[in-house]
Amino acid sequence: MSKLIIPKHVAIIMDGNGRWAKRRGLPRNAGHKAGIKAIEKTIEGALSLGVKHLTFYAFSTENWKRSKEEIDGIFALIRDYLKDNPVFFKEKNICIKHIGNITPFPNDLKQQLSKSEQNTLKNDKLILTFALNYGGRDEIVRAVNKIINSGKMEINYKDIEQNLDTYFLPEPDLVIRTSGEKRLSNFMMLQMAYSELYFPKLYWPDFSGKQLLKAVKIYNKRERRFGGISQ
Ligand code: FPP
Repeated sequence: MSKLIIPKHVAIIMDGNGRWAKRRGLPRNAGHKAGIKAIEKTIEGALSLGVKHLTFYAFSTENWKRSKEEIDGIFALIRDYLKDNPVFFKEKNICIKHIGNITPFPNDLKQQLSKSEQNTLKNDKLILTFALNYGGRDEIVRAVNKIINSGKMEINYKDIEQNLDTYFLPEPDLVIRTSGEKRLSNFMMLQMAYSELYFPKLYWPDFSGKQLLKAVKIYNKRERRFGGISQ
């Protein structure tokens, strides 16, 4: 078998937690809790494949429309995941980052996130980014306002790129959305201009390292031309 080309940046829209739970007669938050297990398995898979950047869409600017109970449950899961895993992050050399505007988040979550980011700042095997209160349109507006405030009168795309939340990330090579839905839902639309997209049917809690490997194999069958022509 020829050697697999490993995407540098894999970005994931975790969808289907609610449906996974409903199918089992469980509350929606049980689906999100099971989603954490899938995150853990996917991280292990990314580490063994050698993926350098892994980004999870964990809470969108639109997710505020959900019930307070569900939102509080998601916040608690993110906080506890970060709180419970400092040794894992250290041993596996994982750097934690976030994109999105976390200003409206509860203090305990913001404090935990800041602590995890500080403690893992120098780690560099895997850059693990969580998109939190993230929306592509909101990100672009915030980036443009930063540029306006810097006093620039004319800009190029680099100026926009450098002011996006994702300034520290390469563009995603592979974007995965689970549950069979084929939408991008305001996730890194600018950054995805040339990404390969993959929409497996299974719900997020059923995703795993094995599924990530399958996605990478499918990615290897795609021909990326970036607007050019086949060789
Ligand atoms: C989408 O499924 C899932 C979410 C909006 C939340 C995902 C959040 C987590 C798994 C917890 C995050 C934890 C960490 C550590 C980042 P859905 O609820 O929209 O599913 P449905 O479409 O079937 O209802």
